[in-house]
Amino acid sequence: LVFSNSESASKLVAKEIADLIIRKQKKEQNCILGLATGSSPINVYAELVRLHQEEGLSFYNVITFNLDEYWPMEKTNVQSYHYFMHEHLFNHVDIPKENINIPDGKVAQENLLQYCLDYESKINQAGGLDFQLLGIGRTGHIGFNEPGSHHNSVTRMITLDHLTRIDAAPAFHGISNVPKKAITMGISTVLNAKRIILMAWGQNKAEIVKETVEGEVSGAVPATYLQHHPNTTFVLDTGAASEL
Ligand code: GLP
Repeated sequence: LVFSNSESASKLVAKEIADLIIRKQKKEQNCILGLATGSSPINVYAELVRLHQEEGLSFYNVITFNLDEYWPMEKTNVQSYHYFMHEHLFNHVDIPKENINIPDGKVAQENLLQYCLDYESKINQAGGLDFQLLGIGRTGHIGFNEPGSHHNSVTRMITLDHLTRIDAAPAFHGISNVPKKAITMGISTVLNAKRIILMAWGQNKAEIVKETVEGEVSGAVPATYLQHHPNTTFVLDTGAASEL
């Protein structure tokens, strides 16, 4: 879907999420959302907050799992995805605190393997992701699944690609402050979601969007694995769609 601007596109995505939450409420079921960070989803979260504050959308039945977190990273650090999610969404809606899951950037190295397996199990025990929101990095990463990620990969620690660290550098006031590692859901974790929306805005993403949508499916561009998912929509603005 190609929109003339990201604001109207984000409203449509937020509406789909809100409709899903309400549908689940009517069935007295939890709604399991996989959530993303970065600049791309900011307007979606703003619209969900508006729907909560002005139209009474409740998040009481929502359980969230975030895609990723830098490692090492303190929750209180403004660059953490923990901080981002609370700032843009969780502090402004009525989601029960115990329903929020974000990879912990302070897990000790020796506990990481078990921690990641537990994160994966928790998603499965919740019933799997009903919906996964995605952005895309210029390396073709989804979450932090950098080039080389296997389609069977699950939640794990990864080493960030140099280009990803360059793109993150402004937020960290210099590349030397950008963590070298991150915890991320795997490709298989993401592809198990029943419904996926990937959003990309601006000319800067046009090349990687083209490779992802039209290129060969390969671990060299992990987002291409989405071509195998039966219910994925790319929501783009004209800039991001300009090479298609
Ligand atoms: C980070 C996140 C990704 C996100 C990407 C793009 O690398 N881990 O989940 O998709 O940034 O960010 P932006 O939306 O700011 O372009």
